[in-house]
Amino acid sequence: MSIRAVAPAAGGVLLSGVLLLSTAPSAQAAAKAAPLPVAHRGASAYAPENTLAAVDRAHELDIDWVENDVQRTKDGELVVIHDTTLDRTTDAEEVFPDRAPWNVGDFTLKEIGRLDAGSWFDKGFKGERVPTLEQYLNRLDDTGQNLLLELKSPELYPGVEAEILKELDEKGWLDRGHVRDKLILQSFDADAVKTVHLTEPTVKTGFLGNPKVDELADYAKFADQINPQYTAVTKEYVDAVHEHDGPHGRPLETFTWTVNDAKTARSMADAGVDGLISNKPDVVRDAVS
Ligand code: G3P
Ligand code: CA
Repeated sequence: MSIRAVAPAAGGVLLSGVLLLSTAPSAQAAAKAAPLPVAHRGASAYAPENTLAAVDRAHELDIDWVENDVQRTKDGELVVIHDTTLDRTTDAEEVFPDRAPWNVGDFTLKEIGRLDAGSWFDKGFKGERVPTLEQYLNRLDDTGQNLLLELKSPELYPGVEAEILKELDEKGWLDRGHVRDKLILQSFDADAVKTVHLTEPTVKTGFLGNPKVDELADYAKFADQINPQYTAVTKEYVDAVHEHDGPHGRPLETFTWTVNDAKTARSMADAGVDGLISNKPDVVRDAVS
């Protein structure tokens, strides 16, 4: 059965065929495309964050987009890990007891490669490693998933923006198909987002945070998305974001984080957000679809 609006009617929308839908606010919100679910650090409620296992878990759940966090090792390699220290999500304290505070940037890739990034989450994930960005991209190439890549604490890694873009280019992630709808680079650091935009203007970018409404026009010069924590989201704010066109001439989008329950997911959908970044992307997808 096709569902096609043919004319507005008092109290509802008359549809071709037999359906008559209410125009109550929730129904109007439903008319907008459901927000895109994004697996935060992979499907990180079910597998250790930012590991290949978390990518695979998202894939098993049919989640097309994963978010990750990229940093740089002492010897200049790009690795996927959230914290700027290794101790929470690996066994670095045990393996390197004399190396406190275990800064990511103080360890070589070979040293980080020795660490177990899975057992802290569940012993069933023992042996998971901190992936390099290259390994992470290879896995996404295998699964066909898309990437919301966060430049984590770029102020600690001068020049990391260009290095990330170089790696993406070498792996084929800056070709037309990828920049059109498979890749977004985001950061809490507005200067880093600007640098990405100026270095590779074709890439879609996001700013993590909630700038004041009267600052949005400035952000729209270099960011395609404004991505706030969900506690900062209101319908009015989302509407204000959508009023601006981003650097690629399309309305700014907003992906909000970290939404892990159905009720919050529905409330964010009603506010009009475009994406839901979630540790439980299946839960939020099912809540809004
Ligand atoms: O993608 C949004 C979210 O990742 C930002 O916060 O701390 O999880 O990197 P955080
Ligand atoms: Ca992140």
